[in-house]
Amino acid sequence: ASTLGAAAAEKGRYFGTAVSLNKLSDSTYSTILNREFNMLTAENEMKIDALEPNQNQFNFTTADRLITRANEIGAKVRGHTLAWHSQQPGWMQSLSGTALRSAMKNHITQVMTHYKGKIHSWDVVNEAFDDSTGGRRDSNLQRTGNDWIEDAFVTARAADPAAKLCYNDYNTDNWSWAKTQGVYNLVKDFKARGVPIDCVGFQSHFNSGSPYPSNYRTTLQNFAALGVDVQITELDIEGSGSTQATTYGNVTNDCLAVARCNGITVWGIRDTDSWRASGTPLLFDGSGNPKQAYTAVLTALGGG
Ligand code: G3I
Repeated sequence: ASTLGAAAAEKGRYFGTAVSLNKLSDSTYSTILNREFNMLTAENEMKIDALEPNQNQFNFTTADRLITRANEIGAKVRGHTLAWHSQQPGWMQSLSGTALRSAMKNHITQVMTHYKGKIHSWDVVNEAFDDSTGGRRDSNLQRTGNDWIEDAFVTARAADPAAKLCYNDYNTDNWSWAKTQGVYNLVKDFKARGVPIDCVGFQSHFNSGSPYPSNYRTTLQNFAALGVDVQITELDIEGSGSTQATTYGNVTNDCLAVARCNGITVWGIRDTDSWRASGTPLLFDGSGNPKQAYTAVLTALGGG
């Protein structure tokens, strides 16, 4: 196979990208998107502030265009994200207690019902753990009670039983980090108590402060052994040239080595599309030419 998506499919995986909906009119961007990827994530347009700008008034118009494009090119969609401390609309930021808990559940139900049957996997809860302690991150959602995460997953299962329900976070790639252990213990507890959870997303934003760890494959394997799928959900890797390419190849091989690793999503197409203010963390350069990193991934997937 000569594209990332087709090569991944031959390995029983998907290969996806984050999509910024306002770039679909850029022909270079759209051409690469349509050719290479068979899983799409909205970079911002399915977040809480985008979909529910006023309480209980939903705006699906922009996000629906991602579903349309996915259907046109035979791709699937990851939903991102239903419950998160960040990118909350102002009205939600000002809520607390039972009013906030109810609003969270209403958002999950309304959004998942609108997209019922159209989403491969939902990031039900995003980034709920503290960066250093292994405990929960303080947030307005956390202050509604420690059971807010399981409440979100139970609500999500009822809304769309066909979607895989994921917990998604960053800095959970290194097995020896407290944050990784915190999320691992959450998933272990959910499986033991029958709280619905199907997958764990590893964002995998690798940079000097949080480099690709040598135990990354071990981390994916250990989570999968709990009985959940694992997905690489927001991959980007700081650097350039052969060093960056080698790391991209290693990440790809790690996913392929874990039976329950469903696929890889990169967090943007060209370096110039990245959320990072500087650097060259993606697979295509600013002109849309495939980089060494692209070739390393395609080769690891058995394509070329
Ligand atoms: O759309 C508004 C525009 O109307 C306004 O004029 C402009 C001025 O600031 O802001 C625009 O919104 C920006 C939005 O991206 C769209 O470009 C926000 O300010 C900006 O904060 C937002 O950044 C996004 C970030 O999440 C916000 O948390 C990035 O694009 C997006 O890549 C990033 O993605 C996150 C994942 O969701 C979760 N994991 C980490 C990852 C990287 O930070």
